[in-house]
Amino acid sequence: MPKRRIADGLSGRRVLITGAGAGIGAATACAIVAAGGRVAILDRDGKAAKATATALGKGKALHVAGDVTDMEAVGRVLAAMERAWGGIDDLVNNAGTWDHDPLLDLTMERWRRVLEVNLMAPIAISAAAARRMARGGSIVNVSSVLGQVAGPERGPYCVSKAALIMLTKMQAIEWAARGIRANAIAPGYIAGTATDKLAAGGGFDAAAVCRRTPMGRYGSEDEVAAGICFLLDPVRAAYVTGHVLEVNGGWTAYGFV
Ligand SMILES: NC(=O)c1ccc[n+]([C@@H]2O[C@H](COP(=O)([O-])OP(=O)(O)OC[C@H]3O[C@@H](n4cnc5c(N)ncnc54)[C@H](O)[C@@H]3O)[C@@H](O)[C@H]2O)c1
Repeated sequence: MPKRRIADGLSGRRVLITGAGAGIGAATACAIVAAGGRVAILDRDGKAAKATATALGKGKALHVAGDVTDMEAVGRVLAAMERAWGGIDDLVNNAGTWDHDPLLDLTMERWRRVLEVNLMAPIAISAAAARRMARGGSIVNVSSVLGQVAGPERGPYCVSKAALIMLTKMQAIEWAARGIRANAIAPGYIAGTATDKLAAGGGFDAAAVCRRTPMGRYGSEDEVAAGICFLLDPVRAAYVTGHVLEVNGGWTAYGFV
């Protein structure tokens, strides 16, 4: 018999989520609160972070404006969680960025910025959070289908998201003894502002993506949020660590022309 009822979901969990001012992060913050948890949002867009936190309701969410690469801002959000709720249980490294161009056109500076946000920040934030997870916890790193396969002219994004998957496995094997599970989620093409902007800028052909996807459509932010909530869940996912959960409508399973 499990000690907690499965229906308890994320009740009582104190979750730090980065980039929850918009998109997948905001949908995830909403889903975590609906499952009984509380969320602390770190987003460089202070207005958006505040809007998400306000919509979630007093006592359910707090927010700090800051970039994930700024450890002073990370310290501020962890301190705010300590003051408000007595600490942190779980972390979702969601904030991400991209910079697309052929390998031969990219400067080191452009590589560095993507790697700083998508990889170095999750490394640093995870370590800071893990040290504070006094009663164990869970980390979910938001990777991508492009951390599993290479996409043309997407070097920094693909390399950073692939490294994030290996970081997840490292965290899983080294921190299991601390009672910390670490998993990655790899979304495919998800409907939302970021995808619309990329498609509109000629980054890909939306109709071709849907044809290439066995389920024939984009995913939704809520579908990714549901996957993240599963991985966070201390009962449903109690024995799941070092895993990469694909939420991509079958995109990676498809290997034909
Ligand atoms: N949208 C997709 O189709 C898709 C697919 C696969 C993976 N992902 C990954 O999911 C995550 C979320 O993507 P999204 O589409 O929801 O993005 P989004 O652009 O809709 O929202 C990102 C949020 O993160 C914040 N943010 C961005 N950079 C930040 C930084 N350096 N510091 C603090 N906050 C920052 C933004 O202000 C914004 O509120 C990213 O890691 C992305 O790579 C997205």
